[in-house]
Amino acid sequence: MHRTATQKTATRKTAMHKTLVVTNDFPPRPGGIQAFLHNMALRLDPERLVVYASTWKRGREGAEASAAFDAEQPFTVVRDATTMLLPTPGATRTAVRLLREHGCTSVWFGAAAPLGLMAPALRKAGAERLVATTHGHEAGWAQLPAARQLLRRIGESTDTITYLGEYTRSRIATALTPDAASRMAQLPPGVDEKTFHPGSGGDVVRARLGLTDRPVVVCVSRLVPRKGQDTLILAMPRILAAEPDAVLLIVGGGPYEKELRKLARETRVTDSVRFTGTLPWSELPAHYGAGDVFAMPCRTRRGGLDVEGLGIVYLEASATGLPVVAGDSGGAPDAVLDGETGWVVRGGSVEETAERITVLLGDAELRRRMGERGREWVEEKWRWDLLAEKLKALL
Ligand code: GDD
Repeated sequence: MHRTATQKTATRKTAMHKTLVVTNDFPPRPGGIQAFLHNMALRLDPERLVVYASTWKRGREGAEASAAFDAEQPFTVVRDATTMLLPTPGATRTAVRLLREHGCTSVWFGAAAPLGLMAPALRKAGAERLVATTHGHEAGWAQLPAARQLLRRIGESTDTITYLGEYTRSRIATALTPDAASRMAQLPPGVDEKTFHPGSGGDVVRARLGLTDRPVVVCVSRLVPRKGQDTLILAMPRILAAEPDAVLLIVGGGPYEKELRKLARETRVTDSVRFTGTLPWSELPAHYGAGDVFAMPCRTRRGGLDVEGLGIVYLEASATGLPVVAGDSGGAPDAVLDGETGWVVRGGSVEETAERITVLLGDAELRRRMGERGREWVEEKWRWDLLAEKLKALL
């Protein structure tokens, strides 16, 4: 086809701004990094975006769920057949091919390590801007000699390493060269304030679960020890002493579920604890809405290796208008205005957790005030739309 000079210039201009996202963390796999990437991706120009991601799960189910998800996206998603994309020569070749085929000139590594190691090959293939995002786990890794070396190399070969907040920045920067550390930029996740809002259908969930008129403490998260669902179960006897009808609603699935159910039996609170398992995204807002209080007293584990980066769930809870009880692991305190939108407790402290939750359950006016302030704060500071502008500028 013959194209005019103007059309060619327009094509070249378009190509100049295309971005290739390289990631292992993309829905339909649930989780915070996945939510982070997807929400940012939805706010970039879909014509100028190509996502190269791993497949959710092994087997037909994983491939089909990934394909169904991808078909609904406004941008192109190319899946690698593997469930874990690594910076192997084969995967790097595919990334380089996609960069060239789609005319991308910027690359966003959804999680810096280890895929950021592809940076030199992508730079050689024409990438002009390379941005690598860090989350919570890189702050833990930054303590390990081998992982520090990786981060250092990634820092040297990319333009910007992003961080969630001061906690993660201070940890990750120590692994980088002073030059790479000086090029770091803050890029926290946000919350979709239109999806998560007061009056999001909590009554329907309460009625369905038979919880109408009962005080509900809700926790939404993957079930892993760091998140502190165990602390909540252990806090239940103290909470029930003050609020005998209280229920702990544990939303999410994960490897710790069996242990948590056992703990509930041993603590003799099975009648006051409900597990929903993993929910589809569409069900989340109404489940937050079913709570009177949101609590996730996360704690740092394994000598700092297993640490919270921030905690999107606290922001989703605030956006819904709930007061929040958070743990003091890593960057989690950044997601709460202590004393205003909720409280930060010592992660793992059954006493502090029980006390804060009990006070909140007993004081409707305090819950309303903290919930309203939380909603306001999210609108001011944590909207994806605002944060995506930062990413656009970096790319
Ligand atoms: N669909 C669905 N179903 N989503 C869920 C479920 C579920 O059952 N359970 C949790 N989620 C969603 C939450 O609604 C939230 O959007 C996300 O998964 C969890 O995000 P985080 O609270 O941020 O935790 P994370 O451990 O998965 O994420 C890590 O990276 C984040 C982004 O950088 C941590 O380091 C976080 O601290 C960090 O904010």
